[in-house]
Amino acid sequence: MNPSGIFLSFEGIDGAGKTTHVDALAQALREQGHTVLRTREPGGTPLAEALRELVLHQPMDALTESLLVFAARRDHVQTVIRPALARGELVLCDRFTDASFAYQGGGRGFDLAILARLEQWVQGDPQATDAPVLQPDLTVWFDLPPEVAAARLDGARRPDRFEQQAVDFFVRVREGYHQRQCAAPGRFVRIDAGQPREQVWHDVCVAARDRGWLT
Ligand code: TYD
Repeated sequence: MNPSGIFLSFEGIDGAGKTTHVDALAQALREQGHTVLRTREPGGTPLAEALRELVLHQPMDALTESLLVFAARRDHVQTVIRPALARGELVLCDRFTDASFAYQGGGRGFDLAILARLEQWVQGDPQATDAPVLQPDLTVWFDLPPEVAAARLDGARRPDRFEQQAVDFFVRVREGYHQRQCAAPGRFVRIDAGQPREQVWHDVCVAARDRGWLT
């Protein structure tokens, strides 16, 4: 789908522990000679990082939140992700559009059809609606029951607007991820993030090895 480079995204509810594994995988891939761009959403550009601060800390309604995460994504896709893929790099992105469907769609209950429209515009070309829509080649979903994730987050740093949400919000977010997986099963690998950390890391490496990115 992304002929020259490879695009991987990593997803899961807050507290699933994905970030450590994204860092470790980036390191392992670099050691094997790949040029790796490790980035995140919302964020990855100065503008998108500024929007991230607003989304994580300012009160707003679900439409505003959706527009901001997709505005951040547009800048990130156009100025960082597409150029890196065109250079043949491996792009590792901590969260991407599945997070919008899970958090804004599932968690907030926002209109999925509007999110799908935004996805088309932002990852495609608003002037040419039949242009290919950028999608990750692989999405690693760190899945964990929300009660377990809540216990892990408890007491850790000052919570942002999402981390402050009650368990039922994350039950809906998790269901949002599940629906995205069902809609694109070939793109997703689900990893049980409740396992010991070494086993989770083993599963991450298997996913990368199966595709020939890691030996
Ligand atoms: P996260 O990726 O968990 O970073 P950290 O580990 O620093 O907390 O935080 C980003 C938050 O933004 C997370 O709670 C999910 C939320 N989010 C959305 O609601 N929609 C989106 O489209 C994206 C990318 C993230």
